Amino acid sequence: MSSMTKTTAPIPLSSKPQGSADHGAKTACIRTFGCQMNVHDSDRIRRMIQDAGYAEVQRYEDADLVILNTCYVRENAVDRVKGHLGELNRLRREGRVKRVALTGCIGAAEESATLRQTYDIDLVLGTHNTYELAEFVGLPTMQETYTPELPGTEGGHNAFVTIMTGCNYQCSYCIVPTVRGRMACRPMESVIREVENLVAGGTGYITLLGQTVDAWRHEGKRFCDLLEAVSESAPRVWFTTSHPSNMEDRTLKAIGERDTIVKRLHLPVQSGSDRMLKVMHRGYKAERYRRKIEVFREAARDGTLSTDIIVGHPGETEEDHEQTLRLVEDCAFDSAYIFKFSPRRGTEAASLPGTVPDAVVQRRFLEVLRQVEQNAFTRNQRKVGGEEEIYIRHGSTEDGKAIGETWSGHAVHVKTGAAPGTYMKAKIESAGPHVLYAVEPGTRV
Ligand code: 5AD
Ligand code: SF4
Repeated sequence: MSSMTKTTAPIPLSSKPQGSADHGAKTACIRTFGCQMNVHDSDRIRRMIQDAGYAEVQRYEDADLVILNTCYVRENAVDRVKGHLGELNRLRREGRVKRVALTGCIGAAEESATLRQTYDIDLVLGTHNTYELAEFVGLPTMQETYTPELPGTEGGHNAFVTIMTGCNYQCSYCIVPTVRGRMACRPMESVIREVENLVAGGTGYITLLGQTVDAWRHEGKRFCDLLEAVSESAPRVWFTTSHPSNMEDRTLKAIGERDTIVKRLHLPVQSGSDRMLKVMHRGYKAERYRRKIEVFREAARDGTLSTDIIVGHPGETEEDHEQTLRLVEDCAFDSAYIFKFSPRRGTEAASLPGTVPDAVVQRRFLEVLRQVEQNAFTRNQRKVGGEEEIYIRHGSTEDGKAIGETWSGHAVHVKTGAAPGTYMKAKIESAGPHVLYAVEPGTRV
């Protein structure tokens, strides 16, 4: 069973192959694992391989080159990548796949050396040197061209803009500071220039990206200044991920006040217990987190709130767990990513005493999940019967359903032929814990 309430599956980056294996052209397949940062990096990788004359294909067996852009945050992420590498070794023996590159967070970790001994991998890259892939695929060295300053795309209508990389926190359990390095913030003018270019080119939705975007600082400017400036240039804006210690009330209020900002906040809490928050080095207490949420709820009454929670961190007691359940109830999250603690070599928590037995972790996981889903379901039910303006993020699939988003940040499945990047009115017909289901107004059901 997945340890998250939401997607853990590799994210398909493009639904349509942009070339086919039988045209004799070079072909490449990119698989992305993990977070939005990786999705964004994969977009850059995609542009490189396209520039190098590769046609993108979706299946390993059609690909000359396979690029696995990986995640290292939890052990099951590594296990999944191992499964893919095993399959690729087999296809190689059959003469199908010719070359394999491993990029992303596993590439930046020591574990990549072990993987190299076991599997046939031609190139291993970390997170800071993906531009080296350019040479590997036969492009001239492109260090300047392929920097994180370049936009990522998601079908052109939605773009991810990286505003900072790395992280200056040292959360006990987290490998990110090791594999992504210390925080580096991109200058405001550079971000705004990119946003303006994207918008001029037809992008309708900008997501500002970084491990702790709200920690962004540059030449006396703070994250809220940047967000406000972007919200003036772009028709629709969101940002992720935030850290409670950096989240300013001013930013929470701006979310409510500014029409172009999606009223959706992702604010990882990790635990509801002050004792655990201290062990994790999170730098805040549960009460402070609760207060932030009050400000957000006040500022954006209809907004949606999501979080990350880890269950079974070493030393977590029943009392700690109860406090997490209480916090989940108080904050009434609209969704949550719930993770079972996974020891990462090189992190402090990997060598802490007080391992929580698997069966206990599983029970706590389900208890938190149930609590989150109950709240989310109740909140979503309140939307039924209403009419909302939604933005189409992904056009309709074979079943005729498109995926949209309300201004309050709810995901909506809607039967429509409306194109991605457009707005439409939708009538909410029903709701589950994760999504709303809608039809175009006037549709008979
Ligand atoms: N074990 C479990 N969950 C983790 N996360 C990060 N590292 C670990 C780990 N070692 C979770 C945190 C973080 C999210 C991206 O992944 O909740 O916010
Ligand atoms: Fe990891 Fe903590 Fe940094 Fe988030 S804030 S990336 S959990 S170290």
